[in-house]
Amino acid sequence: MKEHIIDIRNITAYNGSTCVFRDFSLTVENGCNTVILGPNGSGKTTLMKLLSCELYPVFLESSHVKIFGHERWNVEKLRSRLGIVSHDLQNSYLTGARGINVILSGFYASIDTWRHQQFSSSDLGKAEAVMEMLGIGSLANRRFGTMSTGEQRRFLLGRALVNDPDALLLDEPTSGLDIKASLIYLETLRKLMRSGKTVILVTHHINEIPPEIKRVVLISDGKVISDGLKQDLLTSGRLSALFDHPLEVVSLNGFYEVLPALRHDDEEFEE
Ligand SMILES: Nc1ncnc2c1ncn2[C@@H]1O[C@H](COP(=O)(O)OP(=O)(O)O)[C@@H](O)[C@H]1O
Ligand SMILES: [Mg+2]
Repeated sequence: MKEHIIDIRNITAYNGSTCVFRDFSLTVENGCNTVILGPNGSGKTTLMKLLSCELYPVFLESSHVKIFGHERWNVEKLRSRLGIVSHDLQNSYLTGARGINVILSGFYASIDTWRHQQFSSSDLGKAEAVMEMLGIGSLANRRFGTMSTGEQRRFLLGRALVNDPDALLLDEPTSGLDIKASLIYLETLRKLMRSGKTVILVTHHINEIPPEIKRVVLISDGKVISDGLKQDLLTSGRLSALFDHPLEVVSLNGFYEVLPALRHDDEEFEE
């Protein structure tokens, strides 16, 4: 059996006073590109926080959150296995940090770099290679706060990639990006998957699910509603039920998009 990137077993977790997950379980095997798709309020951000240890589940004998088999974050070991890229990171990033330092901070999982941190010439070489790969080498000295959202997003991806992790966990990676920036970002994710990295996407945007992601987990109200293959789950009926709204799903070249379902009264306006 392949090893699990994430293994969440029977957890109960609160966000403030809201019980978001009750007896929730989910596993993702290494090599299985997966999207966790759910509407607003379904628990996506809470799940990200549980996996990045910003939030802890209620302690119960029968429950655990494991990442690559480890019950608790061993930061040194795990960030070189699972890279986490979330929006919170983008929001909390020091606007004064220079591009190169954003990338280098990945070696310490810190925000910006600090005087006591040491970087070898090999670390610098890796950071430069990552910036080159992401097409952001010319921005190495720019302050994070003066970059476009798309550039910032690529720097944060680079911050995770500098550790050469086996897997990436991404939170709505293209939201807020314009069409070109989204497509460049998605193309990068596709290349990473094709090079053997496993991607776990947590989102409510079906248009940012690249063709390489085959497994879909639909969540709603803190529960797994369905778990299976994309072509079976990204259907008009299932997504209309999930988002509680009449939708039409269209698919082209392995990508998906949602449109409003054609209502009976709309037909009257057609020629
Ligand atoms: N700080 C908080 N205090 C209380 N309830 C919260 C807090 N943050 C989120 N929630 C609730 O937790 C549930 C899950 O939220 P969240 O994980 O943010 O969903 P999603 O990211 O899928 O939109 C929602 O019902 C939301 O109202
Ligand atoms: Mg959210």
